[in-house]
Amino acid sequence: MSHLFLIVGLPGAGKTTTAAQLAASHQALRLTPDEWMIALYDGVQPDGKRDLLEGRLIMVALQALRIGTNVVLDFGLWGRDERSALRWLAATADASCTVVYLPVEPDVQRARVAHRQATAPHTTFPMSDADLVTWRAQFQAPDDAELDSTSPVPGPPPGWSGWPQWATDRWPSLTPAQSDP
Ligand SMILES: Nc1ncnc2c1ncn2[C@@H]1O[C@H](COP(=O)(O)OP(=O)(O)OP(=O)(O)O)[C@@H](O)[C@H]1O
Ligand SMILES: [Mg+2]
Repeated sequence: MSHLFLIVGLPGAGKTTTAAQLAASHQALRLTPDEWMIALYDGVQPDGKRDLLEGRLIMVALQALRIGTNVVLDFGLWGRDERSALRWLAATADASCTVVYLPVEPDVQRARVAHRQATAPHTTFPMSDADLVTWRAQFQAPDDAELDSTSPVPGPPPGWSGWPQWATDRWPSLTPAQSDP
């Protein structure tokens, strides 16, 4: 059975560092949207492009899981619904799934982001201290049930017939049915 790792955390939490370690230790395909965004769009983030990119990367992830390859999705995944949708989709690919949450204290986060901006600016997007405060307020930390990979995936929010429909709205390039073998 293949395995999907969902890497969850704010900027500077250490997601890509951990994702690379998991990819090495579990022979997993690592999908890090920042690397693609920076390469494709020259360091800027055109409106909506990240969502489209992530949708296609999720389709790649599902294909890889179906052929028995482990996958690390280094997306950040600030929203509980995003994580639930991906846990549900992993099950459709006969894969198990773990939510890997990397908490980070604000002072540590600011120091890491500043250090990375100073030493490796080509690997990141600029972030102000105000951005970090705003994003922290938006972030939904995973609860114990999400971190327990044996817990059932909750249903989609009211008004949605299923997670595939919700996921295609969240990531408009994602068409799960088309990626079936
Ligand atoms: N456990 C750690 N201890 C100290 N420094 C760390 C640790 N993990 C990561 N770092 C450093 O912190 C910086 C940010 O790490 P990383 O790029 O892995 O974070 P990230 O969560 O992927 O951030 P982003 O969301 O912006 O991509 C890097 O310079 C990295 O070397
Ligand atoms: Mg990263």
